[in-house]
Amino acid sequence: MKVLINKEIIDREDTSVDIEDRGYQFGDGVYEVVRIYEGEVYELDGHVERLFRSAKEIDLTLQYTIEELKENIEKLVAENNVLDGGIYFQVTRGIAPRKHNYDRSVKSHLVAYPLYFTRPEEKQKTGVTAITVEDLRWLRCDIKSLNLLYNVMMKQKANDNEAFEGIFIRDGVVTEGTSTNLFIVKDGVYKTHPVNNMILNGITRQRILELFKENNLNVEEVEFTKAELFEADEVFITSTTSEVMPIYEIDDKKIGNGQVGEKTKEIYDLLIDYIG
Ligand code: PDD
Repeated sequence: MKVLINKEIIDREDTSVDIEDRGYQFGDGVYEVVRIYEGEVYELDGHVERLFRSAKEIDLTLQYTIEELKENIEKLVAENNVLDGGIYFQVTRGIAPRKHNYDRSVKSHLVAYPLYFTRPEEKQKTGVTAITVEDLRWLRCDIKSLNLLYNVMMKQKANDNEAFEGIFIRDGVVTEGTSTNLFIVKDGVYKTHPVNNMILNGITRQRILELFKENNLNVEEVEFTKAELFEADEVFITSTTSEVMPIYEIDDKKIGNGQVGEKTKEIYDLLIDYIG
């Protein structure tokens, strides 16, 4: 496997993590996962721009321009001949003697490498189950930070309960999944949490909102409660890797009729068509 380290593409065997990398010690950095379909990088602009936004929000400067980073990611995809899968890329605040505060002159450190996976078609057809979990994350969930400890713990809790996803509830309000955004459908209207510091504004979420508009489908970016989640006709989650994933059961309770709903299928088909 070929890996991009800062501006060089090298063999994985020739890479190492420095013990003083601030990403390794503090989770001090930001990341992205971008999808590749048939060798083409999908929504690269959105992901790279979001990485730069996350970096800016934590006062981290990349050793890259947006254009240069996009070019090197495309190069990495070509060198690895990735057809179906993705690229994981992260930037940390660099390598420096361990102390909490940082020195802005230290160069940030970028790593990117391919992930190999395919569309989870079977699960998308049958739907999956979820559990609700308390949202105890920090109040900057809009930053795609490397600090994923609580997300990791709650995804594991979901998996230990044989569920696909953990759905975060903060003060009675449904925010998002541990690694996904969430939508409900009630009386033909799609609803999802508004964009603010409580959720990550998913690239898939943004694309789906565009598709709703283009197709004159009713959507509201509004807060909704845990009670409304259970009373919804349909529930689905969205992400780069899951695309649109129906949820037919939460906390052992059926959603709607317990089947994948028509409105979920409608947006699934629109997204898959868009991806092409
Ligand atoms: N997760 N919300 C959270 C907390 C996420 O971590 C993600 C992405 C999303 C969906 O964003 P997008 O549509 O841009 O993938 C929402 C990635 C895939 C991950 O951590 O692996």
